Amino acid sequence: MSQPLSAVPTRALAGTIRVPGDKSISHRALILGALASGRTRITGLLESEDVLATARAVVALGAQIRRVNGSVEVTGQGVGGLQAPMDDLDFGNSGTGSRLMLGVVAGHDMVARFTGDASLCRRPMARVLKPLQRMGLAVGDDTRTTLPLTIRGTPDLVPIVYQSPIASAQVKSAVLLAGLHAPGRTTVIEPIPTRDHTERMLTYFGAEISVKDEDDGRRAVTVRGDAELGGASIAIPGDPSSAAFAIAAALICEGSDIVLEGVLMNPTRAGFIETVREMGGDVELLDLRLEGGEPAADLRVRAGALSGVDVPPGRAPSMIDEYPVLAVLAAFAEGETRLRGLAELRVKESDRLAASAAGLVDCGVETAIEGDDLIVMGKGSVPGGGVVETHMDHRIAMAFLTLGLGAGQPVTVDDVGMIATSFPAFVPLMTKLGAQFR
Ligand code: S3P
Repeated sequence: MSQPLSAVPTRALAGTIRVPGDKSISHRALILGALASGRTRITGLLESEDVLATARAVVALGAQIRRVNGSVEVTGQGVGGLQAPMDDLDFGNSGTGSRLMLGVVAGHDMVARFTGDASLCRRPMARVLKPLQRMGLAVGDDTRTTLPLTIRGTPDLVPIVYQSPIASAQVKSAVLLAGLHAPGRTTVIEPIPTRDHTERMLTYFGAEISVKDEDDGRRAVTVRGDAELGGASIAIPGDPSSAAFAIAAALICEGSDIVLEGVLMNPTRAGFIETVREMGGDVELLDLRLEGGEPAADLRVRAGALSGVDVPPGRAPSMIDEYPVLAVLAAFAEGETRLRGLAELRVKESDRLAASAAGLVDCGVETAIEGDDLIVMGKGSVPGGGVVETHMDHRIAMAFLTLGLGAGQPVTVDDVGMIATSFPAFVPLMTKLGAQFR
């Protein structure tokens, strides 16, 4: 049953909130916790549907998870020490959980069937299967490239040097996690650096990682295999991809002045704030610090005029999940915004290029797709009034609810059920800032 919701035009958001823990880091903390020997203590874990699916998967593979005084404790089985699951591993909506765990299972002598919801079962898996098969993973029906998939891992993986044709942190991470289980060194060369949480956290857990930046912009990341990981303590900063909705809402709702506490400021995730500032957005970084080995800051955001920008394709990996809400911001800016090189958006939880463009058009915004670029004609204000199709995509739902807060007329999204996959507290936290939904 779908649950529609409308966002009502709102003035002057105000107050301080803390967005929940970063989703990418949350998946990795559970996975590395399961591969470590001993206990890992995690504070600030994002307890969203996607992350809970990863938690269920690592428990099905023999790790233990329990709650201890407001944090989550994972008891791991050591690298290569997980056991075959009794049932299917169901990753729900989560591309990250499923792809990273393909890399983990690849290094174990076990058969497992991976599945997920309708959206996940449409998403491409060949991008991870290809390198993992080179390392020794066997796929039951090797003509299949989407979930459900039955795979057989092996304790005898072969280390590889993998030149990834796409800039994807999930691909990089799947290969590095498999590489932990292989003798020798496994290297992934990415065309443009992507989020580096896997490498940071592997180092923190005691693995040997080296990173080399090439002159042409590529980055090579190497893990030394047959690694031993020790349990660690992890504090997870707020998710910048969730913070992006509150930032955008504050920029477009006249008179707003808000603070977001403890937001992750990792440079490989900083593209949205960089772009917003280029548009003239007033985002101030307060108290930049390290939280759990990652940079974090409090952000003060105030409403103000925005202007259109031209965003280069090379910036895409550092803001890949923020394009729907950036497209919304562009609609409130004066002048044309061109978001370049968005091919990867077509294979997210939905075709986000098409869904963002269609939603903008439904809300009265002149929009075009040219090749892999999205062009938005900003007029400084947005009529709104549309009913937007979310296509089972949490970020499309949150982006267009955000649009409705700043528009002339309320905006309805057809289903908010999927918001729970990444940001279950979206509506209550935005309401705390003064947003109105009905
Ligand atoms: C993620 C990587 C990105 C991103 C996703 C999370 C990760 O996907 O879109 O939400 O945690 O590694 P790709 O690797 O497909 O770009």
